[in-house]
Amino acid sequence: MNQPLTIAVIAGTTRQQRQSIKATHYIADFARQLPGVEVIFVDPTEYQFDGDGNDPEGKDPRYSEITARADAFFIITPEYNHSFPGSLKRMLDSELANYNHKPVAIAGVSNGNWGGVRAVEQLCLAIRELGLVVMSWDVYFPYVQNIFNDDNSIKDEHKERYEKQLSKLFAELVWFADVLKTKREQ
Ligand SMILES: Cc1cc2nc3c(=O)[nH]c(=O)nc-3n(C[C@H](O)[C@H](O)[C@H](O)COP(=O)(O)O)c2cc1C
Repeated sequence: MNQPLTIAVIAGTTRQQRQSIKATHYIADFARQLPGVEVIFVDPTEYQFDGDGNDPEGKDPRYSEITARADAFFIITPEYNHSFPGSLKRMLDSELANYNHKPVAIAGVSNGNWGGVRAVEQLCLAIRELGLVVMSWDVYFPYVQNIFNDDNSIKDEHKERYEKQLSKLFAELVWFADVLKTKREQ
């Protein structure tokens, strides 16, 4: 039997009272139901990144281990001043080789109309330099405060739409994860 593909689902902010953590839990739960997929939930509040990026002192060994093990990434980013959070940049910058030739999907989150689309566009620029292979479409959670129940489950009226979008996006992510893993191992 093939080994499961490991997907690291990354929450994009350390902000207290962050709404985007609900979308992160929802996406992680969705991924856990996929056959042949193992999920690692990454909450940046649980990691410590000292110093500047891309140096040995700036790494958290537990995040290094996750990025080494992951076959794919799914980043859920809120939009802060038309970009993605500095804490997400700092965490991503702590590694480099561990990302290379691995696919990444992105979801944008905001409490207004645009769903974090500008943050996602900005993030695409940075993750290309990390060697990650970015998927050609994304999922967006505008008015995030209206989408989820208190237990992080999705409200019934939004379920069909997001399940359809996530099914399509995960199919693509898993396809790339499988192909690239095979090539990396050769
Ligand atoms: C510092 C800061 C800047 C923000 N800038 C934007 C913005 O440029 N565009 C936007 O749509 N929402 C912006 N927001 C609102 C977020 O969309 C909102 O906080 C949303 O709940 C997602 O982020 P969260 O996970 O931190 O809650 C900003 C929020 C903060 C804290």
